[in-house]
Amino acid sequence: MNSEPAASADPGLFDKVVNLCKRRGFVYPSAEIYGGFRSTYDYGPLGVLLLRNVKDAWWRSMVQLRHDVVGLDAAILSPPAVWEASGHLKNFTDPLVDCRNCRERFRLDKLDDPHTCPNCGKHDTFTEARQFNLMFKTYAGPVEGKGAEVYLRPETAQGMFINFKNVLETSRKRPPFGIAQVGKSFRNEITPGNFVFRTREFEQMEMEYFVPPDEAEKWYQYWCQERLDWYRSLGMPDDRLRLRPHDADELSHYSSGTSDVEFLFPWGWDELEGIANRGDYDLTAHAKASGERLEYFDQAANERYVPHVIEPAAGATRTAMAFLMAAYDEEEVEREGTGKGESRVVLRFHPRIAPYKVAVLPLSKKVELQAPAREVLSLVQPHWMADYDETQAIGRRYRRQDELGTPLCVTVDFDTLDDRAVTVRDRDSMAQERVPIDGLVDYLRPRLDGE
Ligand code: GAP
Repeated sequence: MNSEPAASADPGLFDKVVNLCKRRGFVYPSAEIYGGFRSTYDYGPLGVLLLRNVKDAWWRSMVQLRHDVVGLDAAILSPPAVWEASGHLKNFTDPLVDCRNCRERFRLDKLDDPHTCPNCGKHDTFTEARQFNLMFKTYAGPVEGKGAEVYLRPETAQGMFINFKNVLETSRKRPPFGIAQVGKSFRNEITPGNFVFRTREFEQMEMEYFVPPDEAEKWYQYWCQERLDWYRSLGMPDDRLRLRPHDADELSHYSSGTSDVEFLFPWGWDELEGIANRGDYDLTAHAKASGERLEYFDQAANERYVPHVIEPAAGATRTAMAFLMAAYDEEEVEREGTGKGESRVVLRFHPRIAPYKVAVLPLSKKVELQAPAREVLSLVQPHWMADYDETQAIGRRYRRQDELGTPLCVTVDFDTLDDRAVTVRDRDSMAQERVPIDGLVDYLRPRLDGE
């Protein structure tokens, strides 16, 4: 819907961001001390903050700032009946091929050339494609076997559909209204990869918006625009975002129309989120399978109908990675107060996304600076996530905070002891301003909490 942007993919960015993630504590390979667990990741002290901020920003915009959306936190373990009715047992499959030569496995639909193995380069060595179901199956209770099977949910969406009646009866909402959920989902991906882009365990942020059938197209258009705007409002550059409507042969088994919000990753354009017009597929399927009436009775019009569903479905972990990539920048600057040039890496996060909002930095480790620095820290902490760092020269600490994406550093120096003021240093402009301690929170608030 928007014109083709001018930006181009930067393949070198991928390694830079992955290295920074490890070095600065955003993301670690999982079970690393045991040699790692393929394509699975743990979020470190910085990563957990980033991820939490992404989820909070989504929840704020999708639930908190609206009157028509309520939240839900449904179970991850679910019985086969749910997935039978939703169509996942039958349809949630990828075509799997094995190379007879090197024994590597691939998703047929993701191969550049379906006749050539990308691992060993041999031609026509693939087996016939088999449909491989992506759901993780496990067993509830002590006895494994038929009747005890349960599934780890491969999407959060079904939790909203199977609770439609509960929410309708308890929340006093009526169509158009939505149910939103953030949580883990699990898919036994054949080819996980590109760092946290495609993993077997990931977090989703999904909302099911139930509408009168004749309003479905209008709300589909509305949510496409709304979701694109959300990424922009958090600082994603216009030329690295686009909305791409699916071709008919790409549509999922439930969808009559889907558009993806795509981001320009280092390997090219790829999906951040799908916005789907799911029609009445889900409620009808669950009503049929469960025997429950999953409808809405419109008293004013004296009519009963099955609402249609518009679903914006985003990935939290994938989006956090996109924010990292969009924020990454390198530039030549003058090191504060030295007149010497140096290069710096800076993550230009929007303040709402930045892991730490403020870093409190006593100029030196001298004992007399500790009391005022701790005082400043305790003034700031109730309002924002703050880092405290008293090691190394101040210039190196600024560089570290630049790499963490901290928007503002607050430095406590020896003048503070006389004037009860601190120096606030801006991450992007590197400008410094002297601010009284007593007015510090009021100074920071519009800079950190402004829209
Ligand atoms: N309920 C619809 C649904 O789940 P989807 O396109 O399969 O749709 C929605 O998933 C979003 O979840 C994707 O756009 C992506 O951001 C995220 N996602 C899906 N599979 C993922 C994976 N294996 N790893 C990380 N994120 C994933």
